Amino acid sequence: MPITIQTLRRFKAEGRPITALTAWDFLIAQAIDRAGVDVILVGDSLAMVALGYDTTLPLTLDETIHHAKAVRRGVSQALLIVDLPFGSYQESTTQAMHSAIRTLKETGAQAVKLEGGSPPRVEAIAHLVQAGIPVMAHVGLTPQSVHQFGGFRQQGKSPQAAEQILQEAIALEQAGAFSIVLEHIPADLALHISQKLTIPTIGIGAGPQCDGQVLVTADVLGLSTWQPPFAKVYANLQDTIMQATQTFCADVRDQRFP
Ligand code: KIV
Repeated sequence: MPITIQTLRRFKAEGRPITALTAWDFLIAQAIDRAGVDVILVGDSLAMVALGYDTTLPLTLDETIHHAKAVRRGVSQALLIVDLPFGSYQESTTQAMHSAIRTLKETGAQAVKLEGGSPPRVEAIAHLVQAGIPVMAHVGLTPQSVHQFGGFRQQGKSPQAAEQILQEAIALEQAGAFSIVLEHIPADLALHISQKLTIPTIGIGAGPQCDGQVLVTADVLGLSTWQPPFAKVYANLQDTIMQATQTFCADVRDQRFP
């Protein structure tokens, strides 16, 4: 049965952990969808893991849509969510609406994700939801604000910062977000938010007690050359690729293949 936003609500009610991974192309999407992950996110982390940028900031809406269309062709079961990239929704509610509508129409995704919980962001999300667009929110370490944070640092460490993130999460739920990513915040804060909200929380570097967990697939597979401290590496595809490539080259050079 394909996963919907209602499925995620049910999983939270049943206490069943939600699984989420990122994808940036057809083959990765097809593999993780077949493996049974619940949510596939075309995260703007694709700027770093697929396009080689140092941050997510350079990614454009056109590039996001290009990748999301490829991912869509590989997904048949998971709920597909697409990140709106930096600069495609910050200017105004109208801009957010335009970008979200374009994303859903052109990619066939079921939902969009926007970072941040400031009052203008909450207002934009409320408008999107009223227009029938499912929105996943994202608070804590929101990578599109990396320069404001002075690096990819844990957020919500002081009581004041923790309270602000909690209030943002509550406002985003009230605006109609169907789920929220909690990135790189203390585990006790993530637990508190997860208990306070009725919508599912999806953690990344936010401890074990969120309603679900998301990781960047390039980190999970050991494809990326650097992983954040909270990632878990389940395979070492960099080494596998290196060995297969070296063996192929040796076979051709020594005339063992074809
Ligand atoms: O861009 C991304 O991959 C993300 C997730 C890791 C939450 O936003």
